[in-house]
Amino acid sequence: MKGDVEDAYRLLHPRPVVLICAGEKPNVMACSWITPVCDEPFMLAVAIWKENYTYDIIEKTNEFTVNVPPPELVNSVWIAGTKSGRELDKISVCKLKVSRAKKVKTYVLDDCLANMECIVEKKVEAGDHVVYISKVLESYADSTAFSKVWKKDILLHLGGRDFVVFGKKIQPTIEK
Ligand SMILES: Cc1cc2nc3c(=O)[nH]c(=O)nc-3n(C[C@H](O)[C@H](O)[C@H](O)COP(=O)(O)O)c2cc1C
Repeated sequence: MKGDVEDAYRLLHPRPVVLICAGEKPNVMACSWITPVCDEPFMLAVAIWKENYTYDIIEKTNEFTVNVPPPELVNSVWIAGTKSGRELDKISVCKLKVSRAKKVKTYVLDDCLANMECIVEKKVEAGDHVVYISKVLESYADSTAFSKVWKKDILLHLGGRDFVVFGKKIQPTIEK
């Protein structure tokens, strides 16, 4: 028997949660509605709620970085995902270390396992969100954490306050 589902987005979770950093004076927000959409050139789609400060910044700058946090940063992810940069300097409150990005005019988060530098190519209106289809100009990762596949746990968002860490790796048992 099937029942109606409230918050139907949860049916498509868990999803990796990342920290989006944007702005010349950098701000971070948590984001789990992000997905690869093109291989060559490598492009992402990121859905950003129009009420977010990050939306205002990306509208002005057209660029941002995607930072993959380790599970230990779950409290920072929660703050980045529940407080607005309009009211709080989240980078300073969370004691996040930042470095200048190489190709875009904002910052990457040093404590994250991987970083991607992105420039917006196209905007798609999606109700109360905007989907930014964005080209990845640079990507780099901690080689002890990632080499072709993740070797360390990453954080996935189930919904609300619930997160899981990367599960047990399995492979299909059939050939090809
Ligand atoms: C785990 C998690 C994932 C989130 N994913 C998204 C997302 O994909 N898109 C979005 O617009 N907001 C998302 N949010 C909400 C924003 O992070 C939140 O509104 C934040 O306060 C925005 O910060 P800002 O105003 O400084 O940009 C998420 C929040 C959490 C906790």
